[in-house]
Amino acid sequence: MNCNILGAPVQDGAGRMGCEMGPSALRTAGLVGALRDLGHTVADLGTVAPAPVRPLAHGNLALKALPEISAWTAAIADAAYAASADAMPIFLGGDHSISAGTLSGLARRAARIGRPLFVLWLDAHPDFHTLDTTASGNLHGVPLAYASGQPGFHGYFPDLPQRIDPARVCTLGIRSVDPAERQALRAAGVTVHDMRAIDEHGIAPLLGAFLDRVTAENGLLHVSLDVDFLDPSIAPAVGTTVPGGATFREAHLVMEMLSDSGLVSSLDLVELNPFLDERGRTATLMVDLTASLMGRRIMDRPTRSF
Ligand code: ARG
Ligand code: MN
Ligand code: MN
Ligand code: MN
Repeated sequence: MNCNILGAPVQDGAGRMGCEMGPSALRTAGLVGALRDLGHTVADLGTVAPAPVRPLAHGNLALKALPEISAWTAAIADAAYAASADAMPIFLGGDHSISAGTLSGLARRAARIGRPLFVLWLDAHPDFHTLDTTASGNLHGVPLAYASGQPGFHGYFPDLPQRIDPARVCTLGIRSVDPAERQALRAAGVTVHDMRAIDEHGIAPLLGAFLDRVTAENGLLHVSLDVDFLDPSIAPAVGTTVPGGATFREAHLVMEMLSDSGLVSSLDLVELNPFLDERGRTATLMVDLTASLMGRRIMDRPTRSF
């Protein structure tokens, strides 16, 4: 597989500084080498250059860094569209607001190719706030709502070239949802597999059913992996830890199933805050999970062939 690595060192969407160092930490943890060891051809395209910031005033006075994130979204959307022309792009965040841009660019790419885009959102949070409903004002809480065409972004974020159908979005690992998000997710028809569902059914059948849908529609599949999908005990380097996250084994199983499916066409690695890490262990885990997604196996064949 040909992979395009692209850094998006955005931190103004999170409540605290540090995600700017994310791309650097993922590179330092050996991402490129891990992919090459698996036989992939990797081009490191460097860092997205931010677009010029213009002043923007919004009635929600809680909003933080709206002009900056709006500008980043425009720049990242263009970069994502370009990086997805001939290879699988892997976007290195940066906080989760970068996905406003990656999803926008990838939806445009999917429309150009004429295939539907599905999204697997691996996160403690659904990030389904609009500019009007967010109380924290942290814009890493809005990208999925923006990209799936929820109202209230016009004039503030770039107009979407193509919205993602929320019925093609599956969130997995969810355990922190604000009331406005709960209501909007239901109304939009997003699939929400919360930790309760994972505990009851196991992660494999939930993911398997979604992958079957992607296959049935010959879809492209974007995976957005937020560090806080993982349990804080194995992934401390994130500003928004929530207890009770995916275990090491659940997370690797998700990645291995995704690999077996052959469906994944793009990936975000987001919310890594290296300032909060312990000797690089979270960055290393994110690289190991990416390796599982890209074909690393315990044995030399998928487990299910036994
Ligand atoms: N729902 C909360 C908020 O809007 C948390 C969002 C966390 N998002 C993230 N990408 N870590 O502030
Ligand atoms: Mn998130
Ligand atoms: Mn999160
Ligand atoms: Mn307009």
